[in-house]
Parts: sequence; structure tokens; C-alpha cells
Amino acid sequence: MFAEKNVPLKDFNTFGIVAKAHVVYRVKSTQDVGQLVASGALVENAPVVLGGGSNIIITGDIKAPVLKMEIPGISLVDETQKAWIVQAGAGVCWHDLVTWTLENDYPGLENLALIPGSVGAAPVQNIGAYGVELQDRFDSLDAMDLISGNTFELRAQQCAFGYRDSVFKHRPARLGDMGLAGRALITHVRFYLPKKWQAVTGYADIEKALVAKGVTQPNPQQIGDCVVAVRRAKLPDPAVLGNVGSFFKNPVVSWEQCQDIIQREPTIVHYTLHDGSVKLAAAWLIDACGWRGKKMGAAAVYDKQALVLVNRGAFDGQAGATGGEVMTLAKAIQTSVYERFGIVLEPEPVVI
Ligand code: EPU
Repeated sequence: MFAEKNVPLKDFNTFGIVAKAHVVYRVKSTQDVGQLVASGALVENAPVVLGGGSNIIITGDIKAPVLKMEIPGISLVDETQKAWIVQAGAGVCWHDLVTWTLENDYPGLENLALIPGSVGAAPVQNIGAYGVELQDRFDSLDAMDLISGNTFELRAQQCAFGYRDSVFKHRPARLGDMGLAGRALITHVRFYLPKKWQAVTGYADIEKALVAKGVTQPNPQQIGDCVVAVRRAKLPDPAVLGNVGSFFKNPVVSWEQCQDIIQREPTIVHYTLHDGSVKLAAAWLIDACGWRGKKMGAAAVYDKQALVLVNRGAFDGQAGATGGEVMTLAKAIQTSVYERFGIVLEPEPVVI
């Protein structure tokens, strides 16, 4: 496989951060990875895996080998009485997969329309939006062990999915620890799409969009269209304004902790979860601290959604934000949210 040397990464990350990779390998098949492992090119340094680059912040030039995932292909690989099983290559653009499933009448992914990124990156952070998470439609995935070159299949339970979390986000600290970051490379993902389709419309923004269109019994395509419209209205298009979607996770606190905060901040936006704990809207916390629209160098807080940090200048000919500037802004936000609410915000993207 061809190794590209000294590669500019600006177009490989949706935040548009300027940095270079010492070497990039474009992975177009499982065999490509197998050859790379066998060649010993990955022995000294665990590689950095890049999908759509929509969930990473690059803080300097990357010395480790970069694997740019470009494995293609979408197909129906199985059908049972209850469900369709659709498989996609890790390099497929996520939204292209959603579009393909809707066009071919295999609904179920419509709430996840327009999420930036690739299919291979989707399980890593268990992407989610408008009441549906990847784990709700997941069947299994194929991966390769980057040390032995062996391929293996993982089912949902083995992926340890959590809120924007999975086994692929964690490095094994000690032998035997769970954690496959830097160790396993996802090559294909299979989705379980139930034939008994049920609309998921509980999310207020989607309900409002459907009401505005006069739709009372939406079909999958109509929900997908509303999701696309809501996302376009609220979230910046990375092609125009560099960003990685939500920059922090929504923090989860105990019911008691929430009551304590509510007494001081009666308008705080919060949602009670099944287990009684409470999810707080990080966007609200950041907004309440006055960060919306604020800038630090070329890094800024998006003026329409305080949970999104943006790169002012990346795509208009200027240098744009450095990874350092972005992380300095992120730390300043974390500090002020902690000082006012006593809550630690955890970044969502992977920082490298
Ligand atoms: N809000 C503010 N100020 C703002 C923006 C929002 O106070 O500037 C309040 C609003 O009251 C709003 C609430 O915060 O009701 C929550 O905001 P929103 O509905 O936009 O959703 P979110 O919790 O900020 C999460 C996901 C998004 C996903 C949306 C829709 C996380 C970290 N983020 O955002 O996912 O699209 O819900 O389901 O869970 C992503 O992960 O990159 C992402 C974009």
C-alpha cells in the first residue's frame, strides 16, 4: 500500500486545524490492513485512525502512522422475519448510509441523518441524536487486531456501548483491561433494522418540525427530512465553519445533586433518566455562564448552540484556530461551569 509522507491534515479534520501527519496510509480493504500489520509498519507506534475526522481535535503534528479509512460498500447482507441486516464499509460516509437505507426501504436510521463522519467512527462514540443511538440499531461489526492481524466479530455487548462511549474509546491500561483503542480497527459495521418500524418523534425539536409541516403520521423519509432541517438550522455546516458537533457530553448527576442545583438555578434544562439520575443540558450550562458567541483567538463558541465550538477563519483563507487555542477555550469553559455549578464537563471529541 502506498505511504504518503508529510501530509497536511487540514482537509482530514472537520475542525479545519492545520497540522501534518508524518505518514498516511489510505485503507481501502481489510487486506490492506492485514498487509500493513504484516509489514511491521505499525509495530513501534499505535496508529491514529481517521474516518471523517469529525470527532477529533489535533493538537500538533502526528508522528504515529495515520490510517485513513476508505473501505467502501453498502449492502443488504441478511434478512430475517423480523429485520433487515445492512452492512457498510468503515469508510462509507455516515449520511450516505442513512440515505441509502431510506431509498431502499430499510428504515430505522432516519433520526441519525446528517451526523457528520464515517460508518467506522459511528460505533466508537455510539453516535446519537433525537432519541436514537447507534446501539439501538446495531447488529455487529468486523475488526482487525492491529498487533496480530487477526480479524474478529463483535456483538453489541462486547462493544460496551454507553452515552457517546464504547470499548473503542478506551486504551487498555493494563493487560486484561477492557479497551480496544489503538488495538482494534473497525472494518465493517452491520445494522439491525426491524421490519416493524416505529417512528421515534418524542424529541421536541422534531415534533415541532413535523407539526409545522402538518404531518401527523410521519413516514421514515419525513422524519429524516425533519432531522436534516433541524440540524441545518441549529448546527454549523463543517464545510463552511469548522466544528466537531457537540464539544462536551451532557453531564449526568444524581437526583439529589440536581435538586440542589435547581434551588439555586430554577430554570436549568434537565431530563430525568430511567435510573432516576438526571442529564443536564451542557449547552444551557455553558450559555448560562455567558459563553455563547465568545472568542479566544480563532476558536469560538457557536452563537446558535453553546455546546458547539467553531473555527472562525479555517475556510476563509486565514490560518484558523490551532488545537491549542481550541483546548484553551474548552478549559476556560470547563472552569467557569465548574466554578458556578460544581459540574465537570467532559469533552466529547478525541484529543490527539
Ligand atoms: N440550550 C441552551 N443554549 C444553547 C443551546 C441549547 O440553553 O445555546 C438548551 C436548550 O434549552 C435545549 C437544550 O439546551 O433544549 C439541549 O440542546 P439541544 O436540544 O440542541 O441538544 P444537546 O443536548 O445540546 C444533544 C447531542 C447532539 C444531538 C442533539 C439532538 C450530546 C453531547 N449532544 O445535544 O449530538 O444532535 O442532542 O439529539 O449528547 C454530537 O454529539 O456531536 C451532537 C451534535
